[in-house]
Amino acid sequence: MIKKSIHLIAAARPNFMKIAPLYHALSKEPWAEPIIVHTGQHYDVNMSDAFFNDLNLPDPHINLGVGSGTHAEQTGRVMIAYEKELLKNRPDLTVVVGDVNSTMAATLAAAKLGVKVAHLEAGLRSFDRSMPEEINRIVTDSLADILWTPSIDGDENLKKEGIAQEKIERVGNIMIDSLEMLRPVIEKQKVCKELNIKPKNFGLVTLHRPSNVDKPDVLKSITQSLVQISEKLHLVFPIHPRTRKNLAQTGYLELLTDCSTITVTVPLIYIKFMNLLFNARLVITDSGGIQEETTYLGIPCLTLRPNTERPITINQGTNRLCKADTFSIEVTNILNNGLLPHNIPELWDGATAGRITKSINGFINQQDSPES
Ligand code: UD1
Repeated sequence: MIKKSIHLIAAARPNFMKIAPLYHALSKEPWAEPIIVHTGQHYDVNMSDAFFNDLNLPDPHINLGVGSGTHAEQTGRVMIAYEKELLKNRPDLTVVVGDVNSTMAATLAAAKLGVKVAHLEAGLRSFDRSMPEEINRIVTDSLADILWTPSIDGDENLKKEGIAQEKIERVGNIMIDSLEMLRPVIEKQKVCKELNIKPKNFGLVTLHRPSNVDKPDVLKSITQSLVQISEKLHLVFPIHPRTRKNLAQTGYLELLTDCSTITVTVPLIYIKFMNLLFNARLVITDSGGIQEETTYLGIPCLTLRPNTERPITINQGTNRLCKADTFSIEVTNILNNGLLPHNIPELWDGATAGRITKSINGFINQQDSPES
């Protein structure tokens, strides 16, 4: 049997968790040959290699090595490098995930060569085009041949944009597959002990969005709020490279490192970060994936953004949007009153990779059939 080659585009930290369960599911299928294409958008050991290790992924089969740059530079470099790969070895399907620059760039390169593209985590919209990710989502969804959505709002957004119903398939949330796949290893970690903090007695902080960390006045206000909150609840803050660079440049890094009630760390590997998340009293973040993981785990989440492309985490889950100057009050509210009732959205069940594998099989068979 000639196997069908399926490119899985990996690029940046949140994408590795999304391709891992799919890679493992496809590897078990006799008809499928999953090929990991790392664009190199993230390259630090803690932002990339360590994730491959934790997620039991092999080294990438193809590495485009594009690195950092402006949006146009990064997007252009991925397009040029991926087009070369596509011309050498044309896959039966390219799977892109999430909403980073590499997702859009790989989609553009593949679609222009007539290679079929599937988008995992399709249909999410913040309706805020000042976010680079929103542009990446819109472009990717408008070109993809298969759109796998995590929740019903995704289906509705795509239909409103005129995407044909037959291209849309609700498969659920792949991040929950990664979490459940590694739960035993995550639970074995002893990160609280290593950091000398008490389980369920600290807040976990992650911030990296340009809107929060690129403007010195906003960064200052957030830093001051964190110091103030830490007087009520100890904070643990693994700092993203973008954020660290800006904190160091503005001189605010010392406000955090000098504060005895804030534990600052380098970006943590997946199993260690998730172990902290399992044990957190609450989370303060601007990440997309963490809004979902906290909803699934029933942990209060304060999202430092004016909007979210994941409204289901607010309607059904544990998430609340807040501003730099009000999140201190929100923390007090949660500490005093706990959370409103919440539940886990439909199909966030750890079985998403299986549904996608079936979908790919059906799509590829349809492409092969003489009538298509
Ligand atoms: C990117 C994604 C964002 C995602 C985030 C997760 C886009 C537009 N943004 O943002 O959606 O939520 O990844 O982390 O695609 N850097 C390092 N080491 C690395 C990677 C980056 O030091 O391994 C530094 C570089 O200075 C780089 C900066 O971080 O310029 C930003 O990296 P980049 O990939 O451009 O964007 P992120 O902020 O990580």
